[in-house]
Parts: sequence; C-alpha cells; structure tokens
Amino acid sequence: MIELLNVSVSFEGQHVLDKIGFEMKRNEFVYLVGQTGAGKSSLMRLLYMDLKPNNGRVKVAGYDSKTITNKQVPLLRRRLGVIFQDFRLLDDRNVYENVAFALYVTNARRTDIKKKVLHALSDVGLSHKRNQMPNELSGGEQQRVVIARAIVNEPVMILADEPTGNLDPMVSAEIMELLRKINMRGTAILMSTHNYELVKKYPARIVQLVDGSLSEVELKSKKSFS
Ligand SMILES: Nc1ncnc2c1ncn2[C@@H]1O[C@H](COP(=O)(O)OP(=O)(O)O)[C@@H](O)[C@H]1O
Ligand SMILES: [Mg+2]
Repeated sequence: MIELLNVSVSFEGQHVLDKIGFEMKRNEFVYLVGQTGAGKSSLMRLLYMDLKPNNGRVKVAGYDSKTITNKQVPLLRRRLGVIFQDFRLLDDRNVYENVAFALYVTNARRTDIKKKVLHALSDVGLSHKRNQMPNELSGGEQQRVVIARAIVNEPVMILADEPTGNLDPMVSAEIMELLRKINMRGTAILMSTHNYELVKKYPARIVQLVDGSLSEVELKSKKSFS
C-alpha cells in the first residue's frame, strides 16, 4: 500500500526527513507521532504527492514518485482520503455539497453520486445535517463531514493529519471510534497525532519521527511522546 525507500526531504538545505524507510500494508492502522516540526505533515504530503522527495522514492497505491505524471496525481488522490486538522470545508456549500464536490469531477452519474453521499453521511451519523452550512456545525460535526468526504470515494487508504488536533477529548474519542470503524471495514489509515492519551486508549502500531528519522515505538516504553 505504502512504501518509502531511503526518502529524504529538505527545505532550504535543512533535512526534515533523512533517509526514511517505511512500509504500511492494506488494512493497517498506524499512528505517526512526533513533536511539532518533526515532519509529520511533510510525510503526509509525500504520500499524496504534494511534495517530491529530494532523494529516494515513495510508492503509494500502485503509483511511484519517480514515474508518476502530473495527470496521474489526481487519480492517485482519488484513491486516498485526506483529512486535515483544520477541516478545510467549503464555507459557501452545505454539508451534502461538500461531500459530493469531489465526485462531480469524476464521471459518476448524479443518482450514483447521491447514493454515495447519503451513504457516507449516514456512516458518520450526519444524514440529518445534510442541508446545514459548515459554520452551523460544531467542530466535531465539521470533522465528521470531512471524514464523510474522505470515505465517499471508497479510498484504499486514509491519511489523517492531526484530525483531532482542534477537538476536545470527548469529541476526539468519537472521531477515533469512527476512524476505527472505517479501518475495520478494510481501509488502511495513517494518522498523525501528538495526543498520547488517545493513542493509549486506542492502541495500534506507532511510528515516530525524531530528528528526521522514523522508527517503530512501543507504547509501554513511553510516558509521553516528547
Ligand atoms: N514548504 C516549506 N518550506 C520551508 N520549510 C518547511 C516547509 N514545510 C515544512 N517546513 C519545515 O519543515 C519542518 C517540518 O514541518 P512539518 O512537516 O509541518 O512538521 P509537523 O507536521 O510534524 O509539525 C518544520 O521545521 C517546518 O518549518
Ligand atoms: Mg503538521
């Protein structure tokens, strides 16, 4: 599903990721942890090919950073669901339209789009809010719309970059339950976070970025992530 081979990324001569290797399989749930500035978002950007490595190669869902063409990038992104901390919903469109938006660029028929969108909204428990505008929703509800948008195209994997970063603990737990449900149904999830409590409550494989290097970590050897 994901393979990083000897990947390095630097900005202005500074190594952010230094010869990283990482593999992730279909169906896996993996936490990506590390302090602010450790390079978590940069790693995510590599995976949806918004960033090219300075060295090494990135393979995701059958695409390779060495050979992918500009035309193929949107095709790759259609196979991924991406979730950000800051939601990034379209403010001038209602919940339904926010989830449907990405499907309009595909050649899907309107009736199929409608079926998919209503299904995704029902999955996240927001069918009744489909005509609301994003600013009429709570933070947790907005993040659930983002999750509906991420799953509507039945992605092979979800990249969630600090999805609970702006949410309180109760709402974060709801979002985690939802992500785990999606993972149980067969979608791989890579989630970055620095919420130690959340990782402890919902254990899964953990990889940590420190000083540009990525390594597996055992939760029991940790008291926190910093
Ligand atoms: N586009 C960019 N240009 C210059 N520096 C960047 C850019 N993106 C990230 N950085 C730097 O790279 C480091 C890692 O950033 P980031 O991947 O956002 O870390 P994290 O998501 O773990 O907080 C930081 O020092 C950040 O300032
Ligand atoms: Mg980040």
